[in-house]
Amino acid sequence: MTHSDNGFFDRFGGKYVAEVLRRPLDELEIAFKEAVKDSAFMSELETIQRDYIGRETPLLFAETATRLLGGAQIYIKLEGLANTGAHKINNAIGQCLLARRMGKKRIIAETGAGQHGVATAAACAKLGLDCTVYMGEVDVRRQQPNVAAMELYGAKVHPVTSGSRTLKDAVNEAMRDWAANPDTTHYVLGSALGPAPFPDIVREFQSVIGREVERQAAERKLDVAAMIACVGGGSNSIGFFSPFIDKKEPRLIGVEAGGIGDGIGENAVRMSGMAARDGIMHGYKSRFLLDEDGQALPTRSISAGLDYCGIGPQLADLGQKGRIEFTCARDKEALEAVKFFARNEGVLFAMESAHAGAEAIRLAPTLPKDKAIIVNMSGRGDKDVFITCPVFRRSEWIEFLHAEIERLESDTEIHNAKIMEASK
Ligand SMILES: Cc1ncc(COP(=O)(O)O)c(C=O)c1O
Repeated sequence: MTHSDNGFFDRFGGKYVAEVLRRPLDELEIAFKEAVKDSAFMSELETIQRDYIGRETPLLFAETATRLLGGAQIYIKLEGLANTGAHKINNAIGQCLLARRMGKKRIIAETGAGQHGVATAAACAKLGLDCTVYMGEVDVRRQQPNVAAMELYGAKVHPVTSGSRTLKDAVNEAMRDWAANPDTTHYVLGSALGPAPFPDIVREFQSVIGREVERQAAERKLDVAAMIACVGGGSNSIGFFSPFIDKKEPRLIGVEAGGIGDGIGENAVRMSGMAARDGIMHGYKSRFLLDEDGQALPTRSISAGLDYCGIGPQLADLGQKGRIEFTCARDKEALEAVKFFARNEGVLFAMESAHAGAEAIRLAPTLPKDKAIIVNMSGRGDKDVFITCPVFRRSEWIEFLHAEIERLESDTEIHNAKIMEASK
């Protein structure tokens, strides 16, 4: 079943929120259902997807990779070519248009790694909406380039100092803000999770990826054996898979962050391991990595976007029913996939997406040559230069950073004055 049944995907999903959030969620559900049936809204969405996001994104035949691996043909959906560099913009633009239709002028969002914050800030700039992004204080410090980008787009970044000062605390803070300002404000949730109707909304706005792939694969008469996507909260994967969920084929494969090992705190494996259990967090029921007291366990991944302790409810349901297979890739395999596709295809995967790339490298040689597998490259890897450079070119990177600091300290005032002068 593609849609939820009144907010539920069998035993997962729901709307486990404080009374004050019921009304905004109910209003959002009504507005969303009306909007997707309104041809004027859908036509505006399509125009902005084409002209601003840059849709449709290409489906690339990875010819050299296919030859080197010697099995099924590998195709890459280049979602990283979307404006702002990742699939997150599909949902951000869709929800911001919906908010504007509802008469809301203020947008709030949570962000962990910063990608969803950047996408929402850009969408707000494009649509003339006021934007506040909640971000854990720890993440603000770790993700300075993304904070700078959000501010450039005109967003206010609000550091969250409660709890562990990371993503889950940012979600709590955003929900508190929304509960206090429901009439003026819309909360743009960034993945296919949270209380109903968010999982349905996010899937709908991300399903453009899957619909394009379905058309592109049919045009080329591909015999698709498997589709592969990385899974954080689940927005790129559910959007990519959505037209195929109700069919028996192709195989749908979700790849989680295998981190550095199998132990607690060494990965973010919720579906492809034994550590997760049923729980309720952030307003919905799903599979979570929780301790005995129901508190989130620590997670770890080289990719900042795959380390959430839970998973979207529809993916949890489809995983338990066997329609989606889950596996994981270790940090090391993801790094190798980044190198492999960069060298052989001229395509730089984001660290998150490289987990899907790693599974393609494992799977392709096991399948016949007349079959195709399609990998969703959910984002491009430019944003990961601070992660990949220290691994691939450690000493040169350290030298570069020292030199940069020196240059900035010695030259800051003259340098800034010149740049400001030049930008006038
Ligand atoms: C490029 C990229 N891919 C994947 C993800 C994971 O999120 P989701 O599972 O919602 O697609 C993120 C999250 O920030 C991301 O930036």
